[in-house]
Amino acid sequence: MPSCKILTGMAEAFIEAKNLRKTYHVGKIEVEALRGISFSVQKGEFVSVVGPSGSGKSTLFYLLGGLTRADGGSVVLDGDDLATLSDAERTRMRKRKIGFVFQKFNLLPTLDARSNIAIAREISGNGDGDPAHFNRITDLLGLTKRLGHRPSELSGGEQQRVALARALINKPAVVLADEPTGNLDSKNSDVVLGMLRKSNQELGQTVLMITHNPAAAEYGDRIIHMRDGQIVRPEEDPQWALHK
Ligand SMILES: Nc1ncnc2c1ncn2[C@@H]1O[C@H](COP(=O)(O)OP(=O)(O)OP(=O)(O)O)[C@@H](O)[C@H]1O
Ligand SMILES: [Mg+2]
Repeated sequence: MPSCKILTGMAEAFIEAKNLRKTYHVGKIEVEALRGISFSVQKGEFVSVVGPSGSGKSTLFYLLGGLTRADGGSVVLDGDDLATLSDAERTRMRKRKIGFVFQKFNLLPTLDARSNIAIAREISGNGDGDPAHFNRITDLLGLTKRLGHRPSELSGGEQQRVALARALINKPAVVLADEPTGNLDSKNSDVVLGMLRKSNQELGQTVLMITHNPAAAEYGDRIIHMRDGQIVRPEEDPQWALHK
């Protein structure tokens, strides 16, 4: 069934989450990871999501990217209600529109850094894509001398930068990044955050970045605070209170 475009008002949200719910079942135990989350992100915005470990940030990331189905509520991304898309349509939408940086990198162990980045281009059908763009982002991310290394031959921070290059290689409309600076020292964090900021500003990409780190979160135009599966006010986020 073809997806139906949802027409919204003038200030059209690029990402709209409404009352999102997700519960995990482990044996008899239920974990309510998201307990009714609603927010919207405008096209071209850079939004940070912060919150303590276990507050549901990665779960939100998976739902926004259409990698997991919600138990309730909806995600509309660029006019597509993800729940109405078939699996094949969701996969196509992801390849065309979203660049993912996963918390655990998800690099392919047998491929070197160059191929780990280029494979995103092949999967999306971009072929050789834009070689100048490849060179630019690998240079900006300080990877030029590491392109022949496999993930096991890279430091954690280098793997993280390869994962970011892979996410950006297709110039996606949306970048979803889960802890892109989680393994990095402050110098490398600045490189990664600067790269996200640059692509947000130069390519108009909408960026949603999840982070533990309050200083990293400040790179965003706006910060969403999560706690226990819900969005809370900044003063209800204990980590934030300490930071301020
Ligand atoms: N696959 C799963 N099965 C069962 N429970 C899960 C699963 N994934 C996450 N959870 C639980 O859901 C809650 C939210 O997890 P989530 O990974 O979204 O948190 P997070 O905010 O990303 O944490 P962190 O900052 O440590 O990455 C946690 O209590 C976690 O234990
Ligand atoms: Mg997480």
